[in-house]
Parts: sequence; C-alpha cells; structure tokens
Amino acid sequence: MFILVGKPLLWSLSFIFIHLIHTTTLAQPEFLSYFCENASNYTVNSMYQRNLKTALSVLPTTNNGFGFYNLSTGQGNDTVNAAALCRGDVNPDVCRSCVNDSMVKLLQLCPNQKHAIGYYDNCLLKYSNKQILRTTKIKFYVFLANRQNSTDIDRFNGALGPLLKKLRGDAASGGLLRKFASGNTRGPGFSTIYGLVQCTPDLSEEQCSDCLEDIINRITLYFNGAVGGRILLPMCTFRYEIYRFFNKSARIAPLGQL
Ligand SMILES: *[C@@H]1O[C@H](CO)[C@@H](O)[C@H](O)[C@H]1NC(C)=O
Ligand SMILES: *[C@@H]1O[C@H](CO)[C@@H](O)[C@H](O)[C@H]1NC(C)=O
Ligand SMILES: *[C@@H]1O[C@H](CO)[C@@H](O)[C@H](O)[C@H]1NC(C)=O
Ligand SMILES: *[C@@H]1O[C@H](CO)[C@@H](O)[C@H](O)[C@H]1NC(C)=O
Ligand SMILES: *[C@@H]1O[C@H](CO)[C@@H](O)[C@H](O)[C@H]1NC(C)=O
Ligand SMILES: *[C@@H]1O[C@H](CO)[C@@H](O)[C@H](O)[C@H]1NC(C)=O
Ligand SMILES: *[C@@H]1O[C@H](CO)[C@@H](O)[C@H](O)[C@H]1NC(C)=O
Repeated sequence: MFILVGKPLLWSLSFIFIHLIHTTTLAQPEFLSYFCENASNYTVNSMYQRNLKTALSVLPTTNNGFGFYNLSTGQGNDTVNAAALCRGDVNPDVCRSCVNDSMVKLLQLCPNQKHAIGYYDNCLLKYSNKQILRTTKIKFYVFLANRQNSTDIDRFNGALGPLLKKLRGDAASGGLLRKFASGNTRGPGFSTIYGLVQCTPDLSEEQCSDCLEDIINRITLYFNGAVGGRILLPMCTFRYEIYRFFNKSARIAPLGQL
C-alpha cells in the first residue's frame, strides 16, 4: 500500500504528497493517517485544553450503540466538539480499544492543535473548536491504493462502479444511528470485488450520498485499475479490495453500551 495525503480542500487541492508509515514501539499503533491543524493552537493549562481533556474522558461513554460517539463541551471559543466512529463491522471490543488508542495517539501527535483527526483502520477520531457534525466542509482526503492493477481494467471498473453505487444508497438510507454498508460482486474472471462504505450518522441522507459520490468519483483519477483502494474523509469513507477485508457477521450490538 502507498498513501497519498491531500491537504484540506478548504485551503488547496494542489498539494498531494506521500506520507510514509513508520512503525515504532509506542503502545498505540500508528494511524493510517492523521492531520493537525496548525493554524489554531491552544496553550498548556488553557480552558481549551481542560475542555479537551474532559471531552475525551467522557467521549467513550457516548456510544450511540452502533460505534458512533459524539460530545461537545465548553463555551464560546473554548468549545470542544469531539466525535469518533468505528467501522460498521467491527465488534464492540475492537471498537472500544480503537477509540481509546486513537485518543492517546492523537494527543501525542497533535499536542497543541485545537483541530485534529486521526484515522485507524477500525475507527476515526476527530475534534475541533468548530462544528464537526452535520457538515461535509472539512475536506481532508486520504488516498490509499493497492499497488496491484487489474488485468482487465474496463471490466473491473464496470463491476466496481455499480457495487459502490448500490452500497452508497444503502449506507445513505441507513438511518440516524448508522450509515454503513458492505457487499461484494463478481469481477473479471473468477474474481470477487468486496466493497465497504460508511458515513458518520450525523450526516443527512443527502449529505452522506453526496460525500460518498465525491470520493467514489475520484476512483478513476487516483486508483484507475488498482485492485484495491480507499479514500478517507472525516465524515465518509469507502474501501474496495479483491479479498474479504471486513467481517460479514460481526455487528456492533444495538443498544450495547461500550
Ligand atoms: C503542523 O506542524 C507540525 C510541527 O511543526 C508539522 O510536523 C506538521 O507537518 C504541520 N502540519 C501541517 C498540516 O502543516
Ligand atoms: C501551532 O503549533 C505548531 C507546532 O505544534 C506550529 O508548527 C505552528 O506554527 C503553530 N501555529 C501557530 C499559528 O502558531
Ligand atoms: C473568539 O475568537 C474571536 C476571533 O479569534 C475573537 O474576536 C473573540 O473575541 C473571541 N471571543 C471570546 C468570547 O473570547
Ligand atoms: C471480526 O470478528 C472477529 C470475531 O468476532 C474478531 O476477532 C475480529 O476482531 C473482527 N474484526 C474486526 C475488524 O472487528
Ligand atoms: C486506554 O488506553 C490506556 C493507555 O493505553 C490504558 O491505560 C487504558 O486502560 C485504556 N482504557 C480502556 C478503557 O481501555
Ligand atoms: C498500475 O497502473 C498504473 C497506471 O494506471 C501504473 O502507473 C502502475 O505502474 C501500475 N502498477 C503496476 C504494479 O503495474
Ligand atoms: C450527539 O450527542 C448528543 C448528546 O450529547 C445526542 O443528543 C445527539 O443525538 C448526538 N448526535 C448524533 C448525531 O448522534
């Protein structure tokens, strides 16, 4: 896999650079990608830092039953909005420890930034002094591509497109608590293409659909022919591969408090 990280679209689309994965001996695994917004910093012992600590300590108790967590705390400029989302197929234990890891890791990597986001395979965590729910404005794209190309790109794309389109509709109409869909379809030859899409459930059906459409439309630009790829945004994501990379049966238990 290689990873391309796009700068937030709010600033510019023109910078796409390669972000290497390092492995270290720290307790928490490395993020797939993360972002610290340097334009807006807080200082040690500030109200924002206190609110952030409070928000992150309470956040794990706000699971909506389907792996979505959200919390706002503080007032005015010191408001901290925090949210976390687990991939729709991961089980509650994996979800809980992923969210826990992400809180520790993101504070290490972004020690004084008011706005930050970290992506793991199984969950994402974001916080900001700005609104982060019900908005699709924050366009920090992360592209991850499988290096292997299909031997029959036209047929591959001809199968992938309809799969993701169907999953997009399923996820967008998933309701207030969960917007997630996974599935598979026949690819060229004897291959099977597996796909997964997800939005944070605070988005409206239309916002989710538009967000996914935007990133799915980028496949031909960034992954044309690759047998696997994913794009991560703070509020929507997709992934596809020619192997099963998600759990078919495991589901985050409805109403199960984590
Ligand atoms: C923010 O600042 C840190 C430390 O100077 C730097 O490593 C990082 O690349 C910066 N992030 C962005 C998005 O510019
Ligand atoms: C915020 O902090 C980062 C380092 O943590 C620094 O690189 C950046 O310049 C700071 N931004 C401002 C606006 O001071
Ligand atoms: C909030 O921040 C803005 C811009 O930085 C500033 O003009 C305003 O006075 C601040 N408000 C409070 C209540 O601190
Ligand atoms: C898939 O389910 C198995 C069994 O519950 C679990 O061990 C594994 O961690 C799950 N994978 C993910 C990504 O949650
Ligand atoms: C969260 O992670 C920290 C540091 O790794 C660990 O000490 C703590 O027990 C974890 N908490 C939960 C609820 O898993
Ligand atoms: C896959 O195709 C892209 C162009 O579509 C090319 O740049 C790349 O080298 C190919 N990768 C392999 C492993 O052949
Ligand atoms: C966010 O959390 C609040 C409670 O703090 C809850 O009322 C609200 O429904 C949550 N929003 C979403 C989209 O889950």
